[in-house]
Amino acid sequence: MDDYHNYIKENRAHWDELAEHHPDTDFYDIEAFLHGESTLRRLEREELTITNKRLLHLQCHFGLDTLSWIRNEGVAHATGVDFAPTAIETARELRDKVGLSSNEARFIESDIYELPSKLEDTFEVVFTSYGTIYWLPDLQRWAEVIANHLEPGGIFYIADGHPLAGPFDYESTADDLRIAHPYFNTEATTEEFDGSYAGWDFGLENRRSHGFSHSIEEIITTLADAGLRIKFLHEHPWSFFQRFEAMESDEDDRWRLPNLEYDLPFTFSLKAQKLTE
Ligand SMILES: C[S@@+](CC[C@H](N)C(=O)[O-])C[C@H]1O[C@@H](n2cnc3c(N)ncnc32)[C@H](O)[C@@H]1O
Repeated sequence: MDDYHNYIKENRAHWDELAEHHPDTDFYDIEAFLHGESTLRRLEREELTITNKRLLHLQCHFGLDTLSWIRNEGVAHATGVDFAPTAIETARELRDKVGLSSNEARFIESDIYELPSKLEDTFEVVFTSYGTIYWLPDLQRWAEVIANHLEPGGIFYIADGHPLAGPFDYESTADDLRIAHPYFNTEATTEEFDGSYAGWDFGLENRRSHGFSHSIEEIITTLADAGLRIKFLHEHPWSFFQRFEAMESDEDDRWRLPNLEYDLPFTFSLKAQKLTE
């Protein structure tokens, strides 16, 4: 088996096991979601107004954001895609629990790279967020899949960890920012964890996963090459998760390093439009 297929296979097993545990965590707070709270963040709600649109959500995990787009933001239809079967199964159960129909929300189990062979539809909007491209070995193919499923003039939006923040060690502090990972996508970062950002000790069997650094250049160039025009790239001085042990969050769940003299970008958001020809 070549490296690429092995990365996907091990990552799928890892994420499938995480998808068993995540619904029970405070991080995902399913009770609040079932009581009507949106899981979307202020950032994407402010930057992406897509009422009545048809949405494709890539790497949807177990569907909380997908369903929030419909229930809380007035999206007409959403298709969520993820390669973890447990995540997709839970997403369908949650859809039924909140009373949405399969005409409003459907969930497809697929490796992102295989999606064009499983889905013919095109969409007005393709959305992906928070913990996505790090798991993808090849951004050129990723951008091609996005373009393939967008209508001409359709919008792509991503919010995720800023590439500049990726290299720093988890133990970094404002006075001691240590480089522990590559900035450029030279090779996979293979690590073993017993959990995730949502809990560190799940007792996982599939501990090993493979991540990939992607530079700003790679993100922008692959999207442009696939026929998308960048409408904006915004950089934000906060992280959407506790990237470093020393980070503290505000009431908006935005994590910062206390005492950092000059801000660094920890999150980026980008909107692009598929060219009409
Ligand atoms: C960090 S989660 C996405 C987070 C999402 N914003 C959330 O919190 O619900 C990453 C997701 O990407 C999925 N994933 C990773 N690699 C994938 C691939 N090659 N194809 C499809 N899904 C993938 C995982 O199964 C996981 O559900």
